[in-house]
Amino acid sequence: MIAPVRWEDGGLVLLDQTKLPTEEVERAYTSWPDVADAIRTLVVRGAPAIGVAAAFGVVLAARASRATTHAALLADLEEAIKGLAATRPTAVNLFWALDRMRRVVVADADVPPARLRDRLLDEAQAILSEDLAANRAMGAHGATLVPDGARLLTHCNAGALATAGYGTALGVIRAAHERGKLAMVWVDETRPVMQGSRLTAWELVKEGIPHRLISDVAAGFVMKRGEVDLVVTGADRIAANGDTANKIGTYSVAVLARHHGIPFYVAAPSSTIDPSIPSGDTIVIEERDAAEVRGVAGRQTAPAASPVFNPAFDVTPAALISAIITERGVFRPPSARSPRRGRASPPTATPPAPAGITTAPRTRPSRCARAATCSTGRPSRCPSRSIPPSSRSGSRPISPRWPSTRSPRSRPPIRTRPRRRSISSAWPGSSSSPRASPGSRRTRAARRSTSAPPPPPARSTRPRCTWWPARSRGSIPVSIISVRATSA
Ligand code: MRU
Repeated sequence: MIAPVRWEDGGLVLLDQTKLPTEEVERAYTSWPDVADAIRTLVVRGAPAIGVAAAFGVVLAARASRATTHAALLADLEEAIKGLAATRPTAVNLFWALDRMRRVVVADADVPPARLRDRLLDEAQAILSEDLAANRAMGAHGATLVPDGARLLTHCNAGALATAGYGTALGVIRAAHERGKLAMVWVDETRPVMQGSRLTAWELVKEGIPHRLISDVAAGFVMKRGEVDLVVTGADRIAANGDTANKIGTYSVAVLARHHGIPFYVAAPSSTIDPSIPSGDTIVIEERDAAEVRGVAGRQTAPAASPVFNPAFDVTPAALISAIITERGVFRPPSARSPRRGRASPPTATPPAPAGITTAPRTRPSRCARAATCSTGRPSRCPSRSIPPSSRSGSRPISPRWPSTRSPRSRPPIRTRPRRRSISSAWPGSSSSPRASPGSRRTRAARRSTSAPPPPPARSTRPRCTWWPARSRGSIPVSIISVRATSA
């Protein structure tokens, strides 16, 4: 198994990801400033892996400290925590893990420093093993969304390398492959640091999972050719409303997926959810060195004098995300639709908005906006015809009263009945199936029966499609992002 971060012989061992795919080099770390440097320079990268490495950085700081009192140890650790937190700003797992480590010390002032050092090591080990378990659970949940014979596209590396092992998005890929559901994986190379080609492709080769590497700019073309059935990516931070920060280019892929009616899924552990921010607007986006854009693999490919903008991440609005896969199940943000290939719903088939959520009234365009340039020459065949322009651009209005702003305790989340195939789960709370066309008898009947109470939750051993979890593990109170399903 690929283990990018591990504790061995009193030190931290990292697989140097800057050397992949050509060299497999492991490096040992015995001081927290060196660990901070490894995080900053991408020796270890990927949101969960950064969190695990930082936790062991705190262990190293505790071991290096000569403090004999609780207060002195805490002071030394605060310095290390500050230094480790300053390495990368976007992935919330880093701050989540550091906070968890700090609480071990803060929790009990009566514990002697020697025992606290042991407890810190236990906590870092727990963060590592919980992440591994979360990834396997996520893989199992996510695999239910993968149709048989699927051609899946992924961006960046959300694999074993980016986590304690197994991976988030790549965990879903591994699980789907193990179940024989996957035909192949399209791998975006992921400019400018090439995590897709250097790392994801490396993992897939190691696992013998069929894949094809594409340049980022080819993603739209393979989607247009009908060769992508679903997209799964990882996440660096998920806001309370479901907006998701991930590797630069993820937003573009999500827009392309929506345009082509392809489901776009995000796989991330609960530790990636940041309920303290209501939306993605306030996520700090790391900007990296201009040299990453001015060159490829150390070779200059642009004038040294050219000014560069190099954001390492972007934010995909929740409205473009079909579902978020966590270790606790599959969650469908109310603003997202789950488009089915070639069957994007016209405005009249929009799922009913949850009570309290207002969406702007939409009218079907009387004429396709692209009629003049339509390549099909047959408006009835136009691939964009049935998708309202607001959805295509990802600008579907979401009410500022998204349920993250209301108390989750006011009403418990409603769990939806598990479906035979999660990919075609009806909009939660809706009595109509997404398979039904807007004018079909099933849909009309469903509309007539909107006053009927939602079906009771069914008992099942399959992962349930629910709303956000009532509580997360660790310190982040995910309950504040609980949302309730529409009662239609
Ligand atoms: O800059 P990186 O390589 O740390 O960015 C990694 C990503 O964006 C991943 O997709 C994300 O961290 C999820 S990893 C499970």
